[in-house]
Amino acid sequence: MRLVCSECGGEPPRDRLFCDACGGLLAFELDAAAFDGARLRRTFLERRRSSAPLERSGVWRFRELLPPVPPADVVTLRENDVPLYAARRGAEYADATRVAYLHLGMNPTASFKDAGMTVAISHAKACGARVAVCASTGNTAAAMAAYAARAGIAALVLVPALGVSEAKMAQTLDYGATVAAIDGDFDRALELVRALDPARVALVNSVNPYRIEGQKCAAFALLEARDWQVPDWVVLPGGNLGNTSAFGKGFREALALGLIPHVPRLAVVQAAGAAPFAHLFRDGGDMRPVRARTTATAIQIGAPASWRKALGEVRASGGTVIDVTDQEIADARAVIGRDGIGCEPASAASLAGLKQLRESGTIARAADVALVLTGHVLKDGAYAAAYHISGASYANAIRPAPTEAALRALIDEVSAVHV
Ligand code: F0G
Repeated sequence: MRLVCSECGGEPPRDRLFCDACGGLLAFELDAAAFDGARLRRTFLERRRSSAPLERSGVWRFRELLPPVPPADVVTLRENDVPLYAARRGAEYADATRVAYLHLGMNPTASFKDAGMTVAISHAKACGARVAVCASTGNTAAAMAAYAARAGIAALVLVPALGVSEAKMAQTLDYGATVAAIDGDFDRALELVRALDPARVALVNSVNPYRIEGQKCAAFALLEARDWQVPDWVVLPGGNLGNTSAFGKGFREALALGLIPHVPRLAVVQAAGAAPFAHLFRDGGDMRPVRARTTATAIQIGAPASWRKALGEVRASGGTVIDVTDQEIADARAVIGRDGIGCEPASAASLAGLKQLRESGTIARAADVALVLTGHVLKDGAYAAAYHISGASYANAIRPAPTEAALRALIDEVSAVHV
């Protein structure tokens, strides 16, 4: 595996995070020709029968395709061993017929960040790092804190003082991290940590290419769950755009390895108040940062760091980028809930996006679609509660049942509801 600059193609020394020559983000390059695809597939399948921690991990099970880390330094919490669920009501809501949820919220710290963090922290441990640092809207913070705790590495998190859910903060503190809140947004926090001396701290935001290597395994896990049948579309929320670049890379590598015959199209969905990537995709030109405002706080990001990589992946897949309103996200999230599946607001941008792409005819009714759910509902319980209290479209109210007669009446009413 070679580490190269994703922008100028230069080959910097291994201990860098950014290109010395142009400042671009670095990326690992896999030599796909060195592998036998059919044999890899068999190996991955065999590993699923094992109960060894490394094989149960939906990241390390694919370790041939990762940058090497000494096995003794691997820190794993069985990340990325996640379900793919049929999306009955979600499909109806979007007027589509073949829709499934890849629920990355079913990870050890309840978000997709664990898949990248296991690789970034294992690498940091192998390098003898003493402190791990990140800027975060909450999920990266919780994941870093958990994996750093397991690795015996100190964790320092920089968060915006406003807009990080209580549950994410509580998790991060529980895992022993030190949290510093800044009077500014995520973009400012990322700027601050990017300026730190890499010799003193391990920066584990998604500008770290080890993170992307872990997260690309979600593409393999999705394909594996479908017996390597490629969906037509993969729809996912976009914030800092590390995940878009990771999914794109994973699918491209699966193609190069002969594991699949073509890549799925990627549809990235941003919140309308934090949609610089959607604007850029529509209007062309360079990234023009915005002051981000959305109730989907996980993706309240105005200057996405990985936009160039992500743009390359979306274009290479024949995909698209759109934005949806906060109300559309809120309603879509509640619909996903009615499928018996809980996700946080940012995740529901995927279903809201599918609905819009069905309405515009970009995605066909019978298209085979995987919606990526990035975080669990309990990541932001206050948001879910507020939705129901507000009486919005798909809200359920809490009903009083003070007497036995009232309770019997309620049972009659509930029995009559068509679920
Ligand atoms: N969904 C959730 C639940 C997230 O937490 C994030 C990003 C995204 C989607 C967007 O992913 O940034 O790779 O495009 N959360 C980061 C954090 C920024 O700090 O937890 P992306």
